[in-house]
Amino acid sequence: MPMTKMVNLTIDDQPVSVPAGTLIVDAAKMIGIDIPVFCYHPKMEPVGMCRMCLVDVGRPVIDRSTGQAVLEEDGTPKIQFGLKLDTACTTPVSEGMVVVGMSEKVLDAREDVIEFLLTSHPLDCPICDKGGECPLQNLTMAWGSGESRFDYSKKMHLAKHVPLGEMIYLDRERCIQCGRCVRFQENIAEDPVIGFFNRGRRIEIVTFSEPGFDSYWSGNTTDICPVGALTTADFRFGARPWELKAASSLCPQCPVGCNTTLNTRREAAAGGEIVIKRVMPRQNEAVNEIWLCDKGRFGYHYAQDNQRLTQPMVRKNGKLAPASWDEAINLVAEKFKAAGTNLLTVASGRLSNEDLFNLQELTGALGGQNVLYTHIAGGELTLSSGLTPGSNLGELGKGSAVLVVGSDFEEEAPLWWLRVSQAAKRGATLVALNPRPTKLDANATHVVRYPYGSEAAAVLAMLNTLSAKRPNLPESVQSLARDPELQAAAKALSEAENLVVFYGSEGMGLTGTQALAQACANLLLATGHTGRPNNGLVGVWRRANDQGAWEMGWQSRPDLFPAMQQAPALYVAAADPAGDDPSVFSPGGFLVVQDLYLTATARLADVVLPAQSWAERDGTLTSGERRVQRYYPVIPERSGTLPDYKIPGRIASQIGIEIESRAAIRIFEKMCTKVSSFAGLSYRQLAEVTEQWPIVSRGDLYYGGTTYENQSGLGVQLPLAENGAALSWPALSEINFPKLGLLAVPVTCLYDQGATLQSSKTLEERLPSPYVSISPADAERLRLTEGAVVRVSPENGNPVVVYIRVNAGIPERVLLAPRSLGLSIEAPTPVEVLLAERVAA
Ligand code: SF4
Ligand code: SF4
Ligand code: FES
Repeated sequence: MPMTKMVNLTIDDQPVSVPAGTLIVDAAKMIGIDIPVFCYHPKMEPVGMCRMCLVDVGRPVIDRSTGQAVLEEDGTPKIQFGLKLDTACTTPVSEGMVVVGMSEKVLDAREDVIEFLLTSHPLDCPICDKGGECPLQNLTMAWGSGESRFDYSKKMHLAKHVPLGEMIYLDRERCIQCGRCVRFQENIAEDPVIGFFNRGRRIEIVTFSEPGFDSYWSGNTTDICPVGALTTADFRFGARPWELKAASSLCPQCPVGCNTTLNTRREAAAGGEIVIKRVMPRQNEAVNEIWLCDKGRFGYHYAQDNQRLTQPMVRKNGKLAPASWDEAINLVAEKFKAAGTNLLTVASGRLSNEDLFNLQELTGALGGQNVLYTHIAGGELTLSSGLTPGSNLGELGKGSAVLVVGSDFEEEAPLWWLRVSQAAKRGATLVALNPRPTKLDANATHVVRYPYGSEAAAVLAMLNTLSAKRPNLPESVQSLARDPELQAAAKALSEAENLVVFYGSEGMGLTGTQALAQACANLLLATGHTGRPNNGLVGVWRRANDQGAWEMGWQSRPDLFPAMQQAPALYVAAADPAGDDPSVFSPGGFLVVQDLYLTATARLADVVLPAQSWAERDGTLTSGERRVQRYYPVIPERSGTLPDYKIPGRIASQIGIEIESRAAIRIFEKMCTKVSSFAGLSYRQLAEVTEQWPIVSRGDLYYGGTTYENQSGLGVQLPLAENGAALSWPALSEINFPKLGLLAVPVTCLYDQGATLQSSKTLEERLPSPYVSISPADAERLRLTEGAVVRVSPENGNPVVVYIRVNAGIPERVLLAPRSLGLSIEAPTPVEVLLAERVAA
């Protein structure tokens, strides 16, 4: 590793040594000196627009003839200060520099800048959402003048509450034109859908997209806007910051595991209940840095929805009727005991480690089988070839490589998209291997295409171009291996010092993803990229804790639906197979459903058990990067409900089996003695924090924004399984494209009609009606146009009526069917598409 050159300087008489290239503003921050900023943000390139950070900068005088520093009489270097002040946010440190941030000249300049900013800023603080956590308010109090030379009656008045789309509002006269929001959207979110319009005092932020502010990242701009110009529809006029309590949590929506802080308040509008008012990012530089996607930020409402179940229900005379917990548990215990080894427990990774462990304990004690409800297989390979402790996507750059295969990455795991894109910008080799274009392509070093159904073959083809040739490769692999872009990509990946491979489920079900996972593990093993930090296999799971389920031995099962039909007793927790696939789900035995809502599956159940949301209880989740993280209770428990881990405990106790279910911490302790990768872990370790860069906190909102400092734990990454990974050649199955009709392939979209999004009023307008997408060529051939309502009939399935989207990136004869959105298919399926009116006629 090249040695970083260090530079010595003093800031306000304090000596500091920082890496060459550090900006003065950051060097000051490192030693606890706050230089006020507005336009500067430590996650973005400086632009020097607002002048708030002016400081006096002196440099040693150098004798040109000798190249030596000129000395004062007392032997100290002679320092020459500039005539003008410098902006600390654009000036890098230099050896011997002397920075003065508290001189009269500097303080006068600060006062002037604030006075000038306030000439066109309304006196809105008492009604502004940002009041109480506003950098402009705070810096005015700290450095502004008590008086102004401007006539306040001549203030500019501009439009207030201008919707930039329905999720973000702009208050034009509050904007100080710092450009943070525009730069974030351009350079970090890579959705340049907002920008400046007009000049001078008439300058304003506008949106260019339809719908307005069309980005999955819009909420972040409200965190970094240093005034109340940008606010969310979710929180605006909702509460004052000082009324809010803050509790640490995790986003439960995807496998990234973003750290959050949930702000709560007791309010009259909610009948005196304590409710979540907003979700804010909590800094974890190894996970989400200081960002959240809009699904994580605005999709929390389901925890406090009035439709939540609050009482067990038991089927009586063919109808579900309210029952007591005792009655419901007694009945379930009796039936499960009778089923014994025939008990089938099906749960999803929406549950915590503790919940899954206890479901497994109960099922195992009866000799039954527990199955993970997922459409992505191969998780067992991430235990032996996954990421190891010390891995951090934020460290990948030149010399490292990332392969993303079979995933529309931003749709499936937004923060991974963001962090991998940033790694590519830092110089990492990024290979996007997908059957159609995605947003990831823009930053990819190599973009390689393969036909749907050939994902594993494409990875094996890469391997085949390297040294580890496999004899008798099918022609499909050999022809892919002749692609020069694929060959170049394979070479770059094999030569990289570090390689992380993300595999997804674009166009695949369990069989396809199992083969793909094995092909990816082979690539990692054959090129020596496992068993050390920043190397390994990551599944782009659908749910937040799928990885945790794999870690404790849960498995997927390709014949799950028939198995559910045959099971004499079926226990479904946090899964809705009837909602996902109504034409296939048909339970034959006693059905128990444990969930938050009366889902389609719950409506078929014999007993329904009301569970709690993540916000009401504590627990842990294991992210796809194998980081175990804690979340904490945020709002009081909904009366009549129980945490998912307690319910199997009560059933077990009724049967006469002892299962630890008193508290999540106790279950975790037990789990750590039984699950090898968790051995030795404790809640205390998960709650440990170390200092992170950039330093963000509630005390200094102008530097990092309103993101929360992490005081509750950075989590711990799990070690690999001791038995190690082995090369094994997956069976390649070919997909036959239908002669007539189209091949429907399942894809994952961020906004779908899943249960956890349905209650979000903020996201309501972004949640699409059921649709499928096809190529322009197929649209023309079938004489369909964008928005046409069609009837899609899958082979061996029930037809659905959906509308058509036409998308240029889709290969011909392929139809994209978003999961949890109308056409439910588990794997590629031939379909026929007909215009709905034609069908009706
Ligand atoms: Fe800056 Fe906020 Fe204006 Fe954007 S809206 S330019 S972040 S003040
Ligand atoms: Fe939640 Fe995933 Fe979005 Fe993070 S990236 S906020 S974990 S949905
Ligand atoms: Fe430095 Fe704006 S010019 S913070």
